[in-house]
Amino acid sequence: MTAKYEVHGSVAVITLENPPVNGLGYTTRVGITDGLQKAHADSTIKSIVLTGAGKAFSGGADIKEFGSPKALAEPNLLSVILALENSSKPVVAAVHSVCMGGGLELALGCHYRIAAPGCNVALPEVKLGLIPGAGGTQRLPRALGVEPALNMIVSGDPVKSELLAQIPGQKLFDKMAASAESLAEEAVAYAQAVSDTRPLPLVRNLPCRHPNGDAYFQFARNMVKGMAKNFPAPGKCVDAIESATKKKFDDGMAFEREIFTALMFTPESRALRHIFMAERAASKVPDVPQDTPQRNIQSIAVIGAGTMGGGIAMNFLSAGIPVKMLEMKQEALDKGIAIIRKNYEAQVKKGKLKQDKYDQRMSLLSTTLSYDDLKDADMVIEAVFEEMGVKEKVFKELDRVMKPGAILASNTSTLDMNKIAAFTKRPQDVVGMHFFSPANIMKLLEVVRGEKTAKDVLATVMAAAKKIKKTAVVSGVCDGFIGNRMIEQYGRQGGFLLDEGCTPAQVDKAMEKFGMAMGPFRMGDLAGNDIGWAIRKRRYQEKPGMKYSKTADLLCEKGRFGQKTGAGWYDYVPGKRDAIPNAEVVKMIEDHRASLGITPRKISDEEIVQRLVYALVNEAAHILEEGIASKASDIDMVYLMGYGFPIYRGGPMNYADQVGLFNVVQSMQRFAQNPLDDAAFWKPAPLLAKLAAEGKTFN
Ligand code: NAI
Repeated sequence: MTAKYEVHGSVAVITLENPPVNGLGYTTRVGITDGLQKAHADSTIKSIVLTGAGKAFSGGADIKEFGSPKALAEPNLLSVILALENSSKPVVAAVHSVCMGGGLELALGCHYRIAAPGCNVALPEVKLGLIPGAGGTQRLPRALGVEPALNMIVSGDPVKSELLAQIPGQKLFDKMAASAESLAEEAVAYAQAVSDTRPLPLVRNLPCRHPNGDAYFQFARNMVKGMAKNFPAPGKCVDAIESATKKKFDDGMAFEREIFTALMFTPESRALRHIFMAERAASKVPDVPQDTPQRNIQSIAVIGAGTMGGGIAMNFLSAGIPVKMLEMKQEALDKGIAIIRKNYEAQVKKGKLKQDKYDQRMSLLSTTLSYDDLKDADMVIEAVFEEMGVKEKVFKELDRVMKPGAILASNTSTLDMNKIAAFTKRPQDVVGMHFFSPANIMKLLEVVRGEKTAKDVLATVMAAAKKIKKTAVVSGVCDGFIGNRMIEQYGRQGGFLLDEGCTPAQVDKAMEKFGMAMGPFRMGDLAGNDIGWAIRKRRYQEKPGMKYSKTADLLCEKGRFGQKTGAGWYDYVPGKRDAIPNAEVVKMIEDHRASLGITPRKISDEEIVQRLVYALVNEAAHILEEGIASKASDIDMVYLMGYGFPIYRGGPMNYADQVGLFNVVQSMQRFAQNPLDDAAFWKPAPLLAKLAAEGKTFN
């Protein structure tokens, strides 16, 4: 049982006790109905208080039950709410801290509600591609008024209880408690005061009207359509709320249920629920228990004040952690600091950052030219030039000066972390922290686990990532780690498509229509085509048999490195990011194609999307099999957070699962027949072939 029953004089108090947020799992639901029965069987009880222990009234559905039959087992949430409504003794909900989703729907089923100030109140189902499914769309508009309820349900965002209590005419909260501390006592007193009131008020009996309903709902629909192009749920929220104003309560409930059930099966909701779980799963490393002790991180050092070093430093400054930056020359430090200043000042100008916060952040930043000044830092992150020789010098210096137990991290994007660790006498303290550019903005962090990286180092870095608001995913050591190793195959397919008949704009448009934030060629222009060029030159040495399109090399030979040179696959106007197709580039591609004796063919958007996305999927299957990633959902997080993969598709692995791995493998076998493609690459990874044959999925 995860609910407690106590008696205070003539008042029964039912307290939800299902940490961390009193999720409404099966045993908690039974606890509520059992409590109600006890209270009714006892003639000395005149009224009932329903509340939650610890950090919440209730956060809603129990995520541990997601997708399991237990979630729907009787008494389900609808039955519990009905039992509350039907109680012949008054029930007072005493809400505090967190009152969300099913938790709020539960409170709305009670006769009275008393709230502590500071309580976060929300119906966040829309964030999982759903609408509230236990009366939220029917009761909240009745209790709060149509417009404020619609805003809450469509956004899913929490609103503080004291703000809701100020809405004129609202019936959501009958009383505000003076404080969270006095809530329990005030709720019992309130329950005593209403013990003889009859008939008992029910939210379902409140009127639900909007003075200009048709015009308002039309406006709301247009607004939602603009905001949530690829997501059906927000629009469905509007439909359900409108029905609350037009249908009888029970008919509205049936309509809500119908919509809720239909949304459960949409790919968008599946994707959002997958991401919700994947995000939580990413922070858990299979062989690093949750209670692994962590090292204390009070201060950071950053080596290199270039593009990445500056962004990395900002992450920690913004989290209130002091940073000391080291460079070889004062000018480099000055330049780095000026950029950090400029970035923060832009936020101040936009009103996103208060001046005093900005001053406070800058006061946490110090600089040095001497390694000896770093000795007290708890963690150092290196972001110097990407050359093994330079990294060697830096790590030998760090090994010399850093205090014992300090964490030594490298932001390398391509180099072997095990080799870097071996430059020190403490490889157990060395780890990769692969940030993405711009490092102060991009949410993704690949934490690269070396052969010898200690478990407490990993646990500490994962926790530090959370502090600086990054989504961290653990990767093993390999060339490119998870994200860039996959993107190389994606880029290679992009090259073949040009050789076979596409223009860069055609490929980009198809991928952007699929939902990618940017097509591969626009992305190349943003990241710098020279980076891919350098990698290819290395590959030509390492893997001479590997097939590549030479088009990108030709582009780089013309100095068209992308946005930074004002020209890449596209042209750019200074200060703007619009990609303008360039006729010379198209001609260059055509000439190259002709020199290879290839007759261009018309290639469908569908083929473009499949070849690029399945290239990611096949490489990812190898990555999973090799244990570089520990779960498929981690790979999805990398692509959603770091590479602009569309959220509503849930990441490449989730997308492949939805398409069906059997179908994915069939397409790969078709691509392998194309003489201009790389047949060897399209041999499905053994893991993928096996899952497809067994009718299974990655996730
Ligand atoms: P950058 O060239 O902008 O900055 C490097 C800085 O390191 C320069 O300011 C340089 O003066 C300084 N430096 C070089 N040797 C040094 C030494 N021995 N001691 C102290 N400072 C030294 O380079 P960027 O782009 O910031 O890259 C840094 C690292 O981050 C590289 O390992 C790179 O592979 C990695 N990385 C880069 C990404 C990007 O998009 N630029 C993304 C992810 C990782």
